[in-house]
Amino acid sequence: MALFSASATAFIGLLLLLLHGTSTGQEQIPNSDVDLLEFPLNLEFLEAEFFSFAAYGRGLDSIAPNLTQGGPPPVGGRRANLSPLIRDIIAQFALQEFGHLRAIQSTVRGFPRPLLNISAESFATVINQAFGQPLRPPFDPYANDINYLIASYLIPYVGLTGYVGANPNLQSTKAKSLVAGLLGVESGQDAVIRTLLYERASLKVLPYPFTVAEFSTKISNLRNKLGKEGVKDEGLIVEPAEGAEGRISGNVLSADKDSLAYARTPEEVLRIVYGSGQANVTGGFYPRGGVLSRTFLFSDVSVTHEPMNCSDHAALIIRLTDTPEFRSHAARPWRFKAAWLQSDQCVRVVGNSWVTTLGNIQETGLAEQIACCQAKPKLWSATAFGVDKTWVRMLEGKLRRLLQSPITLENQLDIKTIQTKLERIAAHDETVWRQHSKVLWLREEDRNTGYFHRKASQGFERTLLPGFAIWEIFRGQNSSLSDRPSQIPRVRCIFGYVGACFEYSKTL
Ligand SMILES: *[C@@H]1O[C@H](CO)[C@@H](O)[C@H](O)[C@H]1NC(C)=O
Ligand SMILES: *[C@@H]1O[C@H](CO)[C@@H](O)[C@H](O)[C@H]1NC(C)=O
Ligand SMILES: *[C@@H]1O[C@H](CO)[C@@H](O)[C@H](O)[C@H]1NC(C)=O
Ligand SMILES: *[C@@H]1O[C@H](CO)[C@@H](O)[C@H](O)[C@H]1NC(C)=O
Ligand SMILES: *[C@@H]1O[C@H](CO)[C@@H](O)[C@H](O)[C@H]1NC(C)=O
Repeated sequence: MALFSASATAFIGLLLLLLHGTSTGQEQIPNSDVDLLEFPLNLEFLEAEFFSFAAYGRGLDSIAPNLTQGGPPPVGGRRANLSPLIRDIIAQFALQEFGHLRAIQSTVRGFPRPLLNISAESFATVINQAFGQPLRPPFDPYANDINYLIASYLIPYVGLTGYVGANPNLQSTKAKSLVAGLLGVESGQDAVIRTLLYERASLKVLPYPFTVAEFSTKISNLRNKLGKEGVKDEGLIVEPAEGAEGRISGNVLSADKDSLAYARTPEEVLRIVYGSGQANVTGGFYPRGGVLSRTFLFSDVSVTHEPMNCSDHAALIIRLTDTPEFRSHAARPWRFKAAWLQSDQCVRVVGNSWVTTLGNIQETGLAEQIACCQAKPKLWSATAFGVDKTWVRMLEGKLRRLLQSPITLENQLDIKTIQTKLERIAAHDETVWRQHSKVLWLREEDRNTGYFHRKASQGFERTLLPGFAIWEIFRGQNSSLSDRPSQIPRVRCIFGYVGACFEYSKTL
């Protein structure tokens, strides 16, 4: 392959995509919608964990582990000291968030839960920032009803403004109806929280000298400041000129001059939830960033792809400019093994190897992340797929003996079990063999069609559509392919979740 010639110093990630046609009769969701639907997962994960820990003392890992998609557990969540009524409401919110996560993840691939910092200190930092001075003792969101409600004031509202912002940009009916459904409940949660706080607006948040209303105003002002797009956030008590129709100071809902909900872009949302005022500087509730943010961190990435005229596969090439030299794996490109897809753990292992190792990306650099992402699945592969020849011979011997012995029900069951095991091994060997014979490399998909159709009908489709990806990393590559800078935003899935690359769509 001409692509293997080494020259320039940039290195390139190559994704060979097996883009085989989808047979689903469902409406295709355009990529722009996928982005807009996936981004809110960042916030939905935060809400789900924060509410769930407060109400139950446990989070997704214990209650709905599938929804995490293998992301690292949150830091610092704990059971809040709540009255029965508030605990009941927060438990309902938590479960509603689980539903939201499932609804989004069953419409788009999504990504593993990002690392979340929901520690008391994380909230205290925001509150200190809001007041422009450290409160003593530090604000503890988990201490009591009022504190918890104030902390909750921080979250669904940001999600709500994000959904309002996303809505006008959605193309497909499916995406629109999902966002409408999410927005409805998200605003409901915000309204409940605000109402409960409004009832207590003039109470002091002990031991501080500030009232609930003052907390709300300070937090809203901080969000306006971080968001950098003017007033999109209002406290519980405002100047009458800012209330509904400019004539009332009670402000149980935050809305514009026509009492319409404010809209925020993903960038504004990130500036707020990172607490940094910059969408490319992570922190706050997301120590390693949310998922879209990686796009901003890697604005020097160019994305190209091979022409798709000779096959229904396309190699996606991700080129990083100005990146330090990256030596390992230069000689032999690393490959995603199709056989891995035979294991249910595959998506989790691949996703995990990225998410749990993404430290501060500016420090570690993408090269190291990629190396880690290559090493971990390889290690896993050795344990999950290392076929022990002695074991195979033992199985074969046992099968022969069973076939020669008298036919009993028990024997038949044993025979069936052993045959299944041997078939699995054979399928694996065959895939490995095919991958090793490079000529057939791009034809892999032809042989796999039946496999994928079978898998699709078993619900596999949702996790690994459409087909699977192979990415290879090597350096010193120049490409004659035309650049497609417009595709840069799509690269964010690589940085967030290589598994999501399975989903690189035909529209590239
Ligand atoms: C979680 O995923 C596994 C494997 O994909 C599946 O068998 C199981 O039913 C799922 N559990 C829930 C609660 O969805
Ligand atoms: C969580 O946030 C607090 C306060 O900002 C910080 O001290 C702590 O180190 C953070 N934890 C992680 C794991 O980022
Ligand atoms: C973040 O982006 C701004 C402008 O968009 C840039 O000036 C700044 O240097 C960036 N910061 C980092 C850490 O990349
Ligand atoms: C595919 O298209 C490229 C240019 O677009 C051309 O160079 C190449 O020969 C074509 N391949 C086949 C198999 O048609
Ligand atoms: C890389 O390709 C570009 C054209 O796409 C060309 O101008 C440049 O000279 C090439 N560099 C090397 C080192 O081959």
